[in-house]
Amino acid sequence: MSNLKSSRIEGLHKMPPEARLRAVAQQADLKEEYVDVLSAAASGQITLADRLVENAISSMAIPIGIATNMIVDGQEMLIPMATEESSVIAAVCNSAKRCRSTGGFKTSTSGPIMAAQIQLVGATDPENVRLKVLERFDEIKEICDTVDPLLLKFGGGFRDLDIRVIDTAEGPMTIVHIIVDTRDAMGANAVNSMAEALAPRLEEWTKARSILRILTNLADRRVVRARAVWPLDEIGGEQVRDDMLSAYYFADADPYRAATHNKGIMNGVSAVVLATGNDTRAIEAGAHAYTARDGWYRSMSRWEKDADGNLVGILEMPMAVGLIGGATKIHPTAQANLNILGVKTADALARIIVSVGLAQNFGAMRALATTGIQKGHMALHAQNVALMVGATGPEIDQVANELKSIGKVRQDIAEEILARIRSEK
Ligand code: MEV
Repeated sequence: MSNLKSSRIEGLHKMPPEARLRAVAQQADLKEEYVDVLSAAASGQITLADRLVENAISSMAIPIGIATNMIVDGQEMLIPMATEESSVIAAVCNSAKRCRSTGGFKTSTSGPIMAAQIQLVGATDPENVRLKVLERFDEIKEICDTVDPLLLKFGGGFRDLDIRVIDTAEGPMTIVHIIVDTRDAMGANAVNSMAEALAPRLEEWTKARSILRILTNLADRRVVRARAVWPLDEIGGEQVRDDMLSAYYFADADPYRAATHNKGIMNGVSAVVLATGNDTRAIEAGAHAYTARDGWYRSMSRWEKDADGNLVGILEMPMAVGLIGGATKIHPTAQANLNILGVKTADALARIIVSVGLAQNFGAMRALATTGIQKGHMALHAQNVALMVGATGPEIDQVANELKSIGKVRQDIAEEILARIRSEK
């Protein structure tokens, strides 16, 4: 348990970040070495951090690595990925290399369509409410489009209404979905503002009461699909291919396995989403909800073999990412990463992200169906363990190599190896 006496710090949000760090350190009785760590980590980033979040005291660096070998819709791509997990980037490089001969990843999309929900309650005639709202289509379009003239200028704006009467523990509710083309924006701000502007008018017209007015992260009208074909000789033969298919059938039938299988896909997806300053939680929520849209949780990807015996992978998921607004626009690292990608539209970025998810899934399934993941994982993990026990300079590789050669990447063994190396010096 912490010894903290109180979690109240008067005026913390008004302090400059350095003073804030001092105040937190004092209250939490933080050792000076940790204050130094947080100060150093903030270096060069603290003004930005302070603009992005409340009560900023530092920022946390996540490694950015580059996935090579990717071809998306005929275009060669270098893809920045932000992740702390060993093997994730290596797996994408490897999987992408293995499908280069068939042209890499081909994608398609349903377009940048987002929706916000307005919850209408308290009406005894929810179906009547539904119809009353539908009759106001033109007025609703006008109200929504007035909220964001810039979006209109770029060819986006209100597109449609979808109104559902749902059964709840509190009785029926009428849920109004406003459907909006958000172009290169992720769209949360646009659709939330529209929903808030529209709600009072809906109350006026229907006499129902509006409560929530918020986008849905189940962006099922903003779906991106990627597919790729892995030739049999790049997989490792028929047995490996069939075992990979079996791994897929397992994930598609069992939520316990599906959760892990899909986590692997999200390793790739979230790493590119984060590297480009987009909202990882929005993407994750949408991905999992979309996967369970039939009422049960299953594999996000689909796998089959083609007439020549090659492995075909398909990934289809909501991909609500943007290029304008939010951290994407103001975070210089996100901007630098977008420049490596060379993308000019949110649509192009979304297609790349889903392709990376599919590559990641191929890599995980192939590893699991063959040697298991520990072998690849451990090679990188050995370096981390060497660092953890205090190895420095050339000692890191010496300890890591020895751990790998004995096949046991354990901290206690690393300590023994390090002690021996140092005693032999
Ligand atoms: C680890 O981060 C991801 C995997 O567990 C994915 C999977 O099991 O398919 C390897």
